[in-house]
Amino acid sequence: MSKNFLKESNNAVKIATNYLKNGKLVSIKTETVYGIACNPSDINAIKKLYELKNRPVFNPLIIHVDSISMASNFVVFNEDAKRIAKKFWPGPLTLILPKIKNNLINEFSISGLNTIAVRIPDSKIFLDIIKSFGNPIAAPSANESGYISSTNAQHVIDSFGKKIDLVIDSGKCELGLESTIIDLCIKPYLVRRLGILNVEKIFNETGINIKIADKKNKLKKPNSPGQIEKHYAPRTPLMMNIKKPEQGDAFLNFGKDCINNHKPSLNLSMDGNLEEAAQNLFDFLRRLDKLSMNRIVVTPIPDQGLGKTINERLNRASL
Ligand code: TXA
Ligand code: MG
Repeated sequence: MSKNFLKESNNAVKIATNYLKNGKLVSIKTETVYGIACNPSDINAIKKLYELKNRPVFNPLIIHVDSISMASNFVVFNEDAKRIAKKFWPGPLTLILPKIKNNLINEFSISGLNTIAVRIPDSKIFLDIIKSFGNPIAAPSANESGYISSTNAQHVIDSFGKKIDLVIDSGKCELGLESTIIDLCIKPYLVRRLGILNVEKIFNETGINIKIADKKNKLKKPNSPGQIEKHYAPRTPLMMNIKKPEQGDAFLNFGKDCINNHKPSLNLSMDGNLEEAAQNLFDFLRRLDKLSMNRIVVTPIPDQGLGKTINERLNRASL
């Protein structure tokens, strides 16, 4: 295994902390997907990160913290934000909040916006590193911009090889899809990116209403550029809602309904379990992409609950 790959350990936390202090890039597991961590106050580190990912500079990063009090150094929490954060953090939820003038977050890491996306990840390794680093950490998903996200350490190596300073291997991500992003800087509050956590759950547990952003209130630029582009896309063309694959296709199946003998194929969840499918989605897309078949065709996925988020990712991958 190459030198930039370490299993999770106390020593890995120390090395990662030192690396971050010295402007290096470290891939760390979160419960959703692997991130590439960088010091958001270090302009050179941020530039390196954007170059590594080939990420457009107008696409801001999510800032990861270990507590509401750490976040309060650079964003304002209104009463609703506090209620939601206390209920759902640590967890797969990112809040967009108004920025406070500060010297922890360089303008470049947030594309010069006056809002900041922030979350507490539910990941021991990530939280240990934030604690040891003592400051917030910026981390986009660990994939080339536009390509499939990474849900295990090998995916990160497949994407960046030796170009990344360190990858800490903490196994497979428990959830497999990115955090839900909620914009609390406008009324009505809006979901900017569907994710693992759904707004019904937030409403049921806090009474706070959040709307799903539709075409009318989707911002072209730069509030959530991630939501308008082709994204999560394999190099192989991807087609959705296909029950009968053709020769030369790689087939992504779900449940027992459309069992067939097609080869190659992978089944997201034989039991038709959407959580299992979410956890497998990016891994299976990466595996099928490696086969370089004519197309990757995906069977219909039920458009309810987590299926909505899975279909949103697949739809953007198919553009
Ligand atoms: O689950 C996750 O959120 C993962 C893990 C690593 O935490 N991170 C992640 O980061 O998905 P990334 O960079 O792949 O996606 C961040 C998204 C982008 O679509 C970006 O446009 C949006 O967050 N974003 C960041 N700051 C924003 C802001 N101030 N306003 C609106 N959208 C923002
Ligand atoms: Mg991403």
